[in-house]
Amino acid sequence: MLKGRSLVEPEDFSLDEMDGLFSLAEKIEKDEKYLRESCRGKLLATLFFEPSTRTRLSFEAAMLRLGGSCLGFADPGSSSTSKGESLADTIRMAASYSDAIVMRNPKEGSSLLASRYSSVPIINAGDGGHHHPTQTLTDLLTIKRLLGKIGNLTVGFCGDLRFGRTVHSLAKALARYEKIKMIFISPTELVLPDYIQSILKKQNVEFYEKEKLEDSMPEIDVLYMTRVQRERFFNEDDYIRLKDTYVLNAEKMQAGKKSLIVLHPLPRVNEISVEVDTDPRAAYFAQAKYGMYVRMALLSSVLGVV
Ligand code: CP
Repeated sequence: MLKGRSLVEPEDFSLDEMDGLFSLAEKIEKDEKYLRESCRGKLLATLFFEPSTRTRLSFEAAMLRLGGSCLGFADPGSSSTSKGESLADTIRMAASYSDAIVMRNPKEGSSLLASRYSSVPIINAGDGGHHHPTQTLTDLLTIKRLLGKIGNLTVGFCGDLRFGRTVHSLAKALARYEKIKMIFISPTELVLPDYIQSILKKQNVEFYEKEKLEDSMPEIDVLYMTRVQRERFFNEDDYIRLKDTYVLNAEKMQAGKKSLIVLHPLPRVNEISVEVDTDPRAAYFAQAKYGMYVRMALLSSVLGVV
């Protein structure tokens, strides 16, 4: 039962609970009328202290499609945070006006803190470079829908693995599935943090670190490209030096399996050339749409209407 539960990091839900969400999302995708009015009278607060296109809009679309309503802000400058109000007080207020809160905040751990002050479910929509669990639900649902399974796969993560919260959440989540081999491809400055590597080691996950994408292309089943995140760098020169380390183009795709799928949480900048968009293995736009269905499944579950 997910009614009343918060989602701060992927491990907050069991594998069975996540499977339940994927089945529900598939039902919603196949029958757009299913659950259509189930959240009538419910309110979702979306508190975005950082920019977003997909996460905020897909949550709002999800709530509206379920018949509910949304309130909130996309710019913290328009909230009383700009007058010095604490996050705890902001959350107490939003919880008293709504039935669930979706929050993105640049501070690591902010969603956990919010969950301690909230009387309604908190859904982490990204806390700094830490976690992004609903992107993980999106990624896992996409893998399941397109490859028919989540297991016995080689997953290549490429780009900014140091600051990429979607990578941290997905790697931790995939570690719970059978026979997942992970290849982490990044420049040395942007390698996967030690604390995630320790978790993978503890769970006996087979993983490798590499610097060249080309070497690993032929064995990868799921290629997870990521953006080098300008907003998390302390030094602009380092960002400029590293930003175009990996550019996936049609030539590099030639070395990939026929059954390969290319995912990206988006937004992309230069790391995937637009010429790849027409390759049938490019799945990142479909992935963004699956995100709305899985968020519909999540909202209807934590609000207890299914
Ligand atoms: N994937 C993702 O989090 O996209 P946005 O930053 O646009 O929400």
